[in-house]
Amino acid sequence: MKRGCILFFLIILSYAKEDSFITTEEYGQELYKNPRGIGCIQCHGINGKGKVIATYKEKDKQKILRGPDITKLDFKTFKTKTLQDKGVMPKYYLTDEEIQAIYLFLKKQSLNKTP
Ligand code: HEC
Repeated sequence: MKRGCILFFLIILSYAKEDSFITTEEYGQELYKNPRGIGCIQCHGINGKGKVIATYKEKDKQKILRGPDITKLDFKTFKTKTLQDKGVMPKYYLTDEEIQAIYLFLKKQSLNKTP
């Protein structure tokens, strides 16, 4: 009876732990895909390493509009640039916590070698 109780407790505990263990990175990934507005993924690629947004012609020259690699910035630069309202990027209203989660997700991606 007593052992059963402890076992039950341990199972609950391990579930709770697993849950909070994946949260921040997964949360960041979700936000990256859907940050209340157009997803970062559309312009910075699946893992933040950048992608071609569009190609177009200007005065007969082929031009490429590209979302840059955003996995290697320090946090301060990342935050400032994410929130600034200029250029191609839309304006975002993200909290510190949300930006931190996205940043963490991208840092994990930058350790991953595949483009
Ligand atoms: C519509 C396309 C688009 C979307 C969506 C977008 N970005 Fe960008 N982002 C760009 C482009 C293009 C640049 C390069 C600077 C410029 O022209 O605005 C950029 C620049 C940045 C930079 C600065 C990079 C550097 O090296 O200076 C950061 C950080 C960034 N984006 C983060 C984000 C995050 C986080 C999101 C989602 C919340 C996001 N972006 C969504 C297109 C986009």
